[in-house]
Amino acid sequence: MSTTKIKNGTVVTATDTFSADILISDEKILAVGRNLETADKEIDANGCYVFPGGIDAHTHLDLPFMGTSSSDDFETGTLAALHGGTTSIIDFAFQTQGKSLKEGLRMWHEKAKGKAVGDYAFHMAVTDFNDNTREEIKDLVEKEGVSSFKTFMAYKGALMIDDRQMIGLMNEVKKYGGIVTVHAENGDLADSLIQQNRAAGNTAPKYHALSRPEIVESEATGRAIDIAYSGGHPLYVVHMTCEGALNRVREATKRNQKVWVETCVQYLLLDDSVYERPGFEGSKWVMSPPIRKTKDQTALWNGIRQGLVHTVATDHCPFCMNQKEMGKSDFSKIPNGAPGIENRMELMYSEGVVKGRINLNQFVDLNCTAPAKIFGLYPRKGTIAVGADADLVIFDPKVKHTLSAETHHMRCDYSAYEGWKVEGKVRSVLLRGTVAIDHGKALIGKGFGKYLPRKAEFASP
Ligand code: URP
Ligand code: ZN
Ligand code: ZN
Repeated sequence: MSTTKIKNGTVVTATDTFSADILISDEKILAVGRNLETADKEIDANGCYVFPGGIDAHTHLDLPFMGTSSSDDFETGTLAALHGGTTSIIDFAFQTQGKSLKEGLRMWHEKAKGKAVGDYAFHMAVTDFNDNTREEIKDLVEKEGVSSFKTFMAYKGALMIDDRQMIGLMNEVKKYGGIVTVHAENGDLADSLIQQNRAAGNTAPKYHALSRPEIVESEATGRAIDIAYSGGHPLYVVHMTCEGALNRVREATKRNQKVWVETCVQYLLLDDSVYERPGFEGSKWVMSPPIRKTKDQTALWNGIRQGLVHTVATDHCPFCMNQKEMGKSDFSKIPNGAPGIENRMELMYSEGVVKGRINLNQFVDLNCTAPAKIFGLYPRKGTIAVGADADLVIFDPKVKHTLSAETHHMRCDYSAYEGWKVEGKVRSVLLRGTVAIDHGKALIGKGFGKYLPRKAEFASP
């Protein structure tokens, strides 16, 4: 069996930072330490950090949505992720309303198999919970490796389920040790504000954000938390954006409830001035929930420091400008979502670690370890330890560069961070011991990615 050694790097885990070499054999980490045996291939990481491969727990590749499909498929999306140091993703397999969960899961396996370059797992998005769906949960958890289920409290008439369905789903998922995740926005309230704006002739992208104010999210977040509490269920809130929603989590801790919280890099870094850009440019950031105010960014960074926010994902759901233009004369028809899968790790390092908002170990925890622990991938993924998959990022903290659609690998003709100056760059990425990316060059291709069945065992991050 051939061996690889990464030498002279600074290894960073969620708890420690130390100088060590890493010996790899047969896709796994064989040893971490000093004076390790000579390997067939040796990579010098002098002056670089070695991070565990990133895990983006919230992506939408090849998703049919709002009359079109997200523009990255499993090949382009996972390759772009690898370029940015993300070696595994957890994408959402969607149930079509009126059809079975297994049918939805089968469709997503078809989209990914033979195409994905990086490793992938699935959450199941339950858009129609009924007696038939209920019966499928056990098999999904125990046979299919899908232990997390997403519900939408918004997107009325398309994906939204009601509270009764959410309660039924939580009860069923709990029996098998899984977890329910929630897109927390009050769909009725958002829908009514959308109709008011349309009736008033307000068509511009900014009315998307104005139709989904903070209360839309904080009310639904509080409701989901209360419902989970009433049944003693674990809960993971996806893409949290604002102070009001975070305060609902904070309140819940007073009755000793634990709620897992994900935010996304765009909510930490962007503010709602993006919707004031000229012409139709604001459509680039039309997503749900929308980009908030600077006070919400501050609240989220503080939430990380206070241990209330556990993971950072991207909600990568890109649409090219010709797709966004479907809503040129009606903001409610702009497909919701933005690109980011490639940018998360570098932005979190540059804006988080370099600017002193988080330390190196928090960076690894948020982007790699906590998502692996919460979603049953740990310790195979998410850390640097003997026996773990050799998913490793060699990261050069000295390299400065500028983000741009001209140079990114995502299949999207704009960047949500065009012109952003970033400090630190992914130099090389190993996926299960194979060099996947080296100095910006991809050395693996479609079909290399493996499906990751997940356990229904949630280690506490
Ligand atoms: O705008 C977004 N977030 N699009 C993707 C679907 C979702 O709600 O996560
Ligand atoms: Zn969502
Ligand atoms: Zn999403």
